[in-house]
Amino acid sequence: MRSEYIKINRSKLANLIMHISGKAYSWCLTNSNTELSLPEYALLSRWLKLLQQGVPLAYILGFREFFSRNFWVNSNVLIPRQESELLVEVAINSVTAWESCKFKKKIKILELGTGSGAVIISLVLELIKRGIHVNAHATDLSKNALSVAKNNALWLGADISFSRGNWFDAFKLSKQTFDLIIVNPPYVGLNHSEYLSKRELSFEPKLALYGLNPSSDGMGDFKKIINGLKENTQTGSVLIMEHGCMQKKQIRILLQSSGLSNFEEFNDHSGLPRLVKVRL
Ligand SMILES: C[S@@+](CC[C@H](N)C(=O)[O-])C[C@H]1O[C@@H](n2cnc3c(N)ncnc32)[C@H](O)[C@@H]1O
Repeated sequence: MRSEYIKINRSKLANLIMHISGKAYSWCLTNSNTELSLPEYALLSRWLKLLQQGVPLAYILGFREFFSRNFWVNSNVLIPRQESELLVEVAINSVTAWESCKFKKKIKILELGTGSGAVIISLVLELIKRGIHVNAHATDLSKNALSVAKNNALWLGADISFSRGNWFDAFKLSKQTFDLIIVNPPYVGLNHSEYLSKRELSFEPKLALYGLNPSSDGMGDFKKIINGLKENTQTGSVLIMEHGCMQKKQIRILLQSSGLSNFEEFNDHSGLPRLVKVRL
C-alpha cells in the first residue's frame, strides 16, 4: 500500500455510516453514495481517524453487542468477545439442569472480574427468562470497570450486586459461598507473541489482559482463583472458567495438582479449546 493511501475495512466503514445516518447496515454496505450533513461528515472523519489509529470500533461507537444485547464499553473495560458467549451458554445449560431450580431455590452466582458486566448480565437475564431465580454478585479490581458494569446492569434491568476486590478478597469478611462461579481471567502471557502483535489490544486495559502481576505464561491468575475456591464454594458448586486456546494442557495440570479431577472441557464455535467446567 502506498503511504498516501489509507486502507479502510468496508464493514467497519458501513458500521460507522450506519450509526451516523441511521440507515440499515446492509444499505450502508451496498450503496455507493450516502448523503451526510456537514456535522455528520465531520463526525465520520473524526471516527475514521480513530479507526486508522487502530482504536477498536467498539470504543469508537461506545458499545458492543454480546449475546444479542448492546453493552456500553469504554477503554476501562475489555471489549466482550464473541468467544465468551460460550461461558454464558455453558452456564445456562448447567444451571437449568440442576434439580434445585425446580423448587424455586435462588441460585447463588458469582462472576469474578466482570469488566463491562456483559457475561453476568447476559446470564442473569437469560436465567430469569427461563423462570430461574438468582442471587447474582459480580466483582472486579478496577473501580472504573465496575462503574461501567453497574451502568450496564441498570440500563438492561439486571439485579446484580457489585463489589471491588482482588479475586475472592472481595468477600474476605462475609465468607459467602456460591453455587456457580464464572470467570474469564486475564490470561495473556508476556511470551504470547500471537496476542502481543495485535495493535487493537494496546487500547484495552492492561489489567484485563495481563492481570495485576503479568507472567510469561499468563497462568498466574488461574492459580490464585483455584487457590481461593475452597473458602467460597461448597461440595457440588461449579466453576466455569474461560482460558486461552493454548492453555488447555496447563489448566488441566493445574486442576489435577489441586485435587480437582471432576471437570469437563469445551471448545468454542471455532473449534478451539476455550473453557473448563469444574465440579467441586
Ligand atoms: C479478561 S477480562 C474479562 C472481563 C469480562 N468478564 C469479559 O469476559 O468480557 C478480566 C477482568 O478481570 C479483572 N481483574 C484483573 N485482575 C483482577 C484481580 N486481581 N481481581 C479481580 N479482578 C481482576 C479485570 O479488571 C477485567 O475486568
